[in-house]
Amino acid sequence: MGFEIRRINNHGRYEKNMMYEADARYHTLRAKGLAATASPDGKTKSIEKQYNTLQFLRLVRSMEGCIAECGSFKGLGSFMFCHTLRESDPGYDGRDFHIFDSFEGLSEPKEQDHIQDARVGATGVAYMGAGSFHGGLDHVRQALSEFPAIEYHKGWIPESFKNLPERQYRFVHIDVDLYEPTRDSLEYFYPRLREGGVIVCDDYAHLQWPGARRALDEYCDPRGITVLCLTTGQGVIIKRSHPS
Ligand SMILES: C[S@@+](CC[C@H](N)C(=O)[O-])C[C@H]1O[C@@H](n2cnc3c(N)ncnc32)[C@H](O)[C@@H]1O
Repeated sequence: MGFEIRRINNHGRYEKNMMYEADARYHTLRAKGLAATASPDGKTKSIEKQYNTLQFLRLVRSMEGCIAECGSFKGLGSFMFCHTLRESDPGYDGRDFHIFDSFEGLSEPKEQDHIQDARVGATGVAYMGAGSFHGGLDHVRQALSEFPAIEYHKGWIPESFKNLPERQYRFVHIDVDLYEPTRDSLEYFYPRLREGGVIVCDDYAHLQWPGARRALDEYCDPRGITVLCLTTGQGVIIKRSHPS
């Protein structure tokens, strides 16, 4: 019949008996983050993605290097990242943490973002058009005020990468949905990623964001860099001295 019957738990999430569903520390922090940033609660899929991303951040927590989030929307991801870093460093104040965003929402989808599939609508263009996910710099700064050392880079990617001092990064979250800013973020950050560092691309294997996958594959395939394609739609790159 095309229906699936499942029991819903108290939080409105599916009970799948997975440990992350019962991770009270995570869910308490997420609830704080949703309230502080006034972000929409994407429920199951969004939780799975965020939980995964935090695991990769944990992997690099004792490494040297900066952290960047490209595409912050209302700041929920960065809120979760900074608090996760604070767990192992109680004095963490957002130092070496960089947020890159237009703070005006998405840029224009390009040809590479088009897909011929009825599930993305009649136009064949990404679900969300230019200007979607408009967060606002003042809003994000206020939501993340517990971390005053965060550096905000307002502007369109890749313009906002120009004139940055040279830095090494240990973790980069790319969540800009579209081909061009995903490509430009990868081109900028991969060469500056430390060995053992991680890039998580939120949109790698999503039907509605074909540009993100194109951008990663075009960069990684010729260089022999493996992109781990997660069931959540994320793509993950772990930099190694001998890519395979
Ligand atoms: C899906 S939202 C990010 C969600 C966020 N990571 C979170 O955890 O809630 C996409 C973000 O990318 C930003 N963005 C999209 N294209 C951009 C571009 N070309 N330059 C700068 N920011 C861009 C938008 O302003 C928006 O904040």
